[in-house]
Amino acid sequence: MTLLCNMDPARAAAFAEAFGRVLPDDIPLSFDAASVDPDDVRYLLSWLMPEDIDRYTNLEIMFSTGAGIDQFPFDRLPSNVKLVRMVEDGIIRMMQEYVALSVLMLHRNFIHYKEHQNKALWQPIPQPQTAERRVGVLGLGVLGQAVLDRLAPFGFELSGWSRSAKSIPGITCLSGNDGFAQLIATSDILICLLPLTEETAGLIDARIFSQMPKGASLVQVGRGAQLDHQSLLDALDQDRLSAAVIDVTEPEPLPADHPFWSHPRIMLTPHIASVTQPSTAAMAVSDNIRRHLQGQDLIGLVDRNRNY
Ligand code: NAP
Ligand code: GLV
Repeated sequence: MTLLCNMDPARAAAFAEAFGRVLPDDIPLSFDAASVDPDDVRYLLSWLMPEDIDRYTNLEIMFSTGAGIDQFPFDRLPSNVKLVRMVEDGIIRMMQEYVALSVLMLHRNFIHYKEHQNKALWQPIPQPQTAERRVGVLGLGVLGQAVLDRLAPFGFELSGWSRSAKSIPGITCLSGNDGFAQLIATSDILICLLPLTEETAGLIDARIFSQMPKGASLVQVGRGAQLDHQSLLDALDQDRLSAAVIDVTEPEPLPADHPFWSHPRIMLTPHIASVTQPSTAAMAVSDNIRRHLQGQDLIGLVDRNRNY
């Protein structure tokens, strides 16, 4: 009943220590696919699906090291194997920090002030209060709800959009096509925390930027392929949008000659908004194995019909 972890040696050392504290003694742990009997592997933890997944004939759960699972080709994963994405406190906390920082930075015009600083320009910008700033989140899942929760005390007007209708105190919850149009038209700061699926690929494009309030800004933390990069550059250069914080791009790493690197009103980070934390991730995986063994629902189980 082995748990096999597929990761680089530095990560493996941190995960070995973390699993040592929480994984039940009767579940052997391995970081070396070559030395384990493939028939013993019931659980596999990996960022990508191994090419030779078919050799694990008794595999029951494929755990993704990341919260997103768009990098897993569903058609290659045997239909009896459950795919579970990472739901763990470290990812959630880091995303709350990153999005709160980005929203406050955009709200207080820091990207514009950096541009002014580069020109030695001492020039205050009129500052709305938080209650006058509308923040909209695409995706009301684990991370979308967590960032809204963290933003709430600042007093922004908060909205969110999801596939299914939701009710969250203090948040205008929207769904469906009409809800999407409303969220886009009323977001001064738009945050994308959607999973990458066929439906969300290329979703944020020129049409969306033309429907957002003039001078709005974007925080892109979902996946790079959701954003039409050229449309963002056009919208910034035409002053339709004022600024953007971009953590995910297509491709990654972004080529050195890509215009995002040098754009004065883009803050670019290398996909670090959230990084899976070994101590809390080991707890999440161990807890899910316990749940599986006890016949309980798994946390983060991917619905293969929705692809997230
Ligand atoms: P999640 O819990 O599965 O939530 C996904 C949300 O998106 C749900 O509210 C879902 O609606 C909504 N949704 C999905 N498809 C939709 C559609 N076609 N139309 C409308 N709503 C749709 O996922 P999560 O844990 O919050 O993570 C979200 C994504 O963040 C991940 O998939 C990953 O790509 C990204 N991420 C990025 C980083 C980073 O470092 N940049 C780190 C972690 C995760 P329902 O609630 O109705 O199902
Ligand atoms: C990171 O992007 C993740 O999906 O966890």
